[in-house]
Amino acid sequence: METNRILLRPWRDDDAESLFQYASDPDVGPRAGWQPHKSVEESLEIIRTVFHNDTNWAIELKATGEAIGAIGYGPSCDCKLPARENEPICGYWIAKPYWNQGICTEALRLMLDHIRQTTAILSLISGHFIDNPASGRVMEKCGFVPTGETCIDESQYQGANRPIRVLRLEISR
Ligand SMILES: CC(C)(COP(=O)(O)OP(=O)(O)OC[C@H]1O[C@@H](n2cnc3c(N)ncnc32)[C@H](O)[C@@H]1OP(=O)(O)O)[C@@H](O)C(=O)NCCC(=O)NCCS
Repeated sequence: METNRILLRPWRDDDAESLFQYASDPDVGPRAGWQPHKSVEESLEIIRTVFHNDTNWAIELKATGEAIGAIGYGPSCDCKLPARENEPICGYWIAKPYWNQGICTEALRLMLDHIRQTTAILSLISGHFIDNPASGRVMEKCGFVPTGETCIDESQYQGANRPIRVLRLEISR
C-alpha cells in the first residue's frame, strides 16, 4: 500500500532504533493510551509481538526509508469501547516531527482502501481522548462519525480515568 509519499509495510527488526527514537517521546504514546518506550530492546520486543501480524503496519516515509509511525486494526474485545460484535478497532500514531502534514490521514485512507478491497469488514470503531482532538480530526477526514463518549476506568495510562470520544466508520463498497 503506497502513495507518492508513504508506504505501509510490515515492521522489521531493523526498525527498532527509529521506533525507539519516536515512541519514547512522551508526547506520543500517552495521547494514545500507552507508555513511552524505555529502551531499543523494548521497541524490538513490540515489533516482534504487538506488531507481528497481518493487520499492523509501519508507516514508512519513502524519501528516507524510515518508519515514522504505526497504523493497524484488530479485535476490539480488549479495548472496552462500545463495539459491535466482531467489530475491529483501528489505531495509529505518527512521530512528532511529522505531525500536521497530512501523513496520518493519508495512511488511514490507504488502510481503509486495503480493508475495503481485501476483507468483508462492515464497520470499524475507534476513539480518542477528548484532550487529543487532532486524532479525531484524522478520523473525521476519513469518514468516521462520532457516536458518543465513554470512559475507561482501568486505563492503561497511569490509571487515569480519561474521557474518550468514540467514532465509527460504516464501510461502503
Ligand atoms: C493524532 C496524530 C496521529 C495525527 O497525525 P498527523 O499526521 O499529524 O495527522 P494529519 O496531519 O493527517 O491531520 C491532523 C489534523 O488535526 C488537526 N489538528 C492538529 N492539532 C489540532 C488541535 N489541537 N485541535 C484540533 N485539530 C487539530 C490538523 O489541523 C489536521 O486537520 P486539518 O487537515 O483539517 O487541518 C498525531 O498527532 C499523533 O501521533 N499523536 C500522538 C498519538 C495519537 O494521538 N494517536 C492516536 C490515538 S487515538
